Amino acid sequence: MRKKVIAGNWKMNKDIHETVTLVNEIKERLNGLSNNKVDVIICPPFTSLVIASGLIKGSALKLGAQNMYYKDEGAYTGEISARMLKSIGCEYVILGHSERRQYFSETNELINLKVKQALLYNIIPIICVGETLEERESGVTKDIVATQIKGVLSGLTKAQIDKIIIAYEPVWAIGTGKNATPEQANEVHQFIRKLVAQLYSWDVAERLTIQYGGSVNPQNAYDLLSQSDIDGALVGGACLKAESFINIVGAATQIYN
Ligand code: 13P
Repeated sequence: MRKKVIAGNWKMNKDIHETVTLVNEIKERLNGLSNNKVDVIICPPFTSLVIASGLIKGSALKLGAQNMYYKDEGAYTGEISARMLKSIGCEYVILGHSERRQYFSETNELINLKVKQALLYNIIPIICVGETLEERESGVTKDIVATQIKGVLSGLTKAQIDKIIIAYEPVWAIGTGKNATPEQANEVHQFIRKLVAQLYSWDVAERLTIQYGGSVNPQNAYDLLSQSDIDGALVGGACLKAESFINIVGAATQIYN
C-alpha cells in the first residue's frame, strides 16, 4: 500500500507566536500516535517557516512552504526562491493551489516552471489541480484536470514523477464544508493515475502519491482515505487546530490497523 501523506496548508494564518503554540501542540499530540506509515507535513506562511523549522527538529513533522518563485535569485521583489526554502529545511512546497491560480493569476505554464525549479533543489512539489463548480456541473471535470496535469508536468522525466505529489482539490470543496464524496474524489484520482500511466508508465503511476483536498475534517477523513487511490489529504481549515489536524492523521494511521 502507498504511504499516506497528510499535509496542513495553513494558508495566510498564524503569526509567529501562534505558530509556536500550534507547532508545539501538534508535536505533543503526534507523539501519542504510532505513525511510521504516515508522513505529516506542516505548511505555515513564509514568516513562520524558520521558527517552525527549529521547533520540529527531532520530531516526525516535516516542513513545507505554500509557494515559491521559479528563479534562482535576483530582482523579483517580494518573491522567495527554492534555494531559500531549502536553506531553512523545507522539504516540500505547495504549488499551483487554486487560490494562487484564482487570486494571483497563476497558469499551468508558470506552475510548471516552479515545479522544475523545486525539483532542482530536491524539494517535493505538492502540485494542486481541480475543477470549479461550473466546470463540474458542465461535465468537463476530467478535461480540465487532464489539461492541468499535462501542463504542470510538461517536460518532466519519469524519475522526476517519483519526486512529486499531486493534490486533487476541487475548487467547490475548498473552504465550503462541502467535501467531494469519497467516490467522487476516488474517480478523479483514478483518472489522474491512468493519465500519468499513459504519459509515463504504470509503475511510476502506481507509486504516485495523490492527495485529496477540500473540506477534509476528522469526521470524513477515514472514508476519504480508505479509497483505493486517495493517498493522503491536503488540509486547510482543520489543520489550524492541533486536535482536528492530529485526528485526521489518526484516521490515516487507522487504515493500516
Ligand atoms: P479546506 O480544508 O479549508 O477546505 O482547504 C483545503 C485546501 O485548500 C488545502 O490546500
